[in-house]
Amino acid sequence: DRSIKIAPSILSADFAAFGQEIEAIEAQGADWVHVDVMDGHFVPNLTFGPAMCKAIRPHITTVMDVHLMISPVDPYIEAFAEAGADIITAHVEAGPHIHRTLQAIRGAGAKAGVALNPGTPAEHVAHLLDMIDLVCVMTVNPGFGGQKFIHSQVEKVRRLREMIGDRPVHIEVDGGVDPSTAPLVAAAGADALVAGSAVFKGGSVGDPAPYGRNIRAI
Ligand code: DX5
Ligand code: ZN
Repeated sequence: DRSIKIAPSILSADFAAFGQEIEAIEAQGADWVHVDVMDGHFVPNLTFGPAMCKAIRPHITTVMDVHLMISPVDPYIEAFAEAGADIITAHVEAGPHIHRTLQAIRGAGAKAGVALNPGTPAEHVAHLLDMIDLVCVMTVNPGFGGQKFIHSQVEKVRRLREMIGDRPVHIEVDGGVDPSTAPLVAAAGADALVAGSAVFKGGSVGDPAPYGRNIRAI
């Protein structure tokens, strides 16, 4: 389906060459650029912060889709918005006041997303649907690229599609998306697919040609 956005996660790109890697994936069909921010506290890994987002911003002509796997979230929203994030997604599990967090994201001028870990039911966002632009269904436990897709989450995507109705809310799926799992979540109603290892595998800064083939295969 042509209306499905492909959002490569630069977590699987060459960290020493983000600018070139981003330009390559955009030239080869990426719709959004997915940036995985991890704090070593909410998830057991560390990645990057607002300064890195600001540095890559000039290389992005599509959409900077920032996925915050951090807790707390609120003290950093302004910094990520100023760094040029178009979409800022916070986890519903990241703190007791997700409603306030989502208000702050929109207040800072970005689109607001809410992410759900695999163990969190769809119903946890039922009262947030009118204040978000995106819901992200994690199909792995967040923290690392290259993990195995958790099939029980396909039903969650279907349930969210029903709950969202005709609201203009994207359903993004993140984790283990590849040519075998993408059709399952697309059929269930997802319209934005994050893919890290499946996009970057087989290519390199020196030879990014496989990125385009990998994107088209998803
Ligand atoms: C996981 C991240 C994902 C990850 C996806 O914590 O949120 O965006 O990079 O990587 P793959 O596609 O390799 O599962
Ligand atoms: Zn992500």
